[in-house]
Amino acid sequence: MKIIKKSKEIHDLFKSFNNIGFVPTMGYLHKGHVSLIKQSLKENKNTIVSIFVNPKQFNNKKDLKKYPKSQNSDIKICKQLGVNYLFIPNYNEIYKWKTKKYKYPKIVNFMEHQFRKGHFKGVLMVIEKLLNIIPAKKIYLGEKDYQQLTIIKDFIKINKIKSSVVACKTVRDRGGLALSSRNKFLKTINKNTAARVYKLIKEYKKNYKNKRFEINNLMKWFEKNKLKFDYIENINIKKFKREGKVTKNSRIFIAYYLNNIRLIDNI
Ligand code: PAJ
Repeated sequence: MKIIKKSKEIHDLFKSFNNIGFVPTMGYLHKGHVSLIKQSLKENKNTIVSIFVNPKQFNNKKDLKKYPKSQNSDIKICKQLGVNYLFIPNYNEIYKWKTKKYKYPKIVNFMEHQFRKGHFKGVLMVIEKLLNIIPAKKIYLGEKDYQQLTIIKDFIKINKIKSSVVACKTVRDRGGLALSSRNKFLKTINKNTAARVYKLIKEYKKNYKNKRFEINNLMKWFEKNKLKFDYIENINIKKFKREGKVTKNSRIFIAYYLNNIRLIDNI
């Protein structure tokens, strides 16, 4: 595995042939990231993983400061998996990289866009640089961040970028908690609560199939258990719109807090 820190170096290597699978990450790799990497390794001759904690997508400085890092173990994981190139740029390598002017898609003002102002603009700012530096044939993204996945897909489409997005299933722990780098800050008791939330929503979906989505019942559960949340939404993932009924295309999207850690999921 080759570790590359310079944008020009990795760009020069790959601008001429693009049988590359690309997995962008912010590091502190876990089994969710690993599943994306494995899928890319299966489908492409070359797999590039990037690790860059992108300050522009953090709407809270404290959150950026405490974002977990583990470069040595990340390198080890990538090496063991058989990743071909690991791209670890610094801020200037990314943001001094000149690109053409890209269009940004319109983002509906709900969920993450409503509660984390500027977050997706920051995500698109780094994605436009990364995809310009690495013109990958396929880019691997997780359904765990479904709204991000949808927005990056739209961005690629409206700018006619020749990369296709591969959506990868959410990897969970035994209780159902979606793996995330931020889970490091959760205690066992929080993980048990997260498992209850997962079960609650799974059962809710089963019980309300083809019925009206009654958010009040879910809200009551959170209130009773003294859990803070930002939103609970029933979204038709084909249209990526709110939906009044729970259908086969519905997913329930949620952002809530455990031990002051903000968790997002869609079930
Ligand atoms: P990060 O949170 O490191 O996630 C990198 C990729 O891993 C994303 O596509 C995310 O959806 C996916 N992922 C995270 N947890 C997952 C899980 N439990 N199961 C499956 N996939 C999972 O998302 C980002 O970084 C950044 O916003 C980025 C796209 C790299 C831009 O900075």
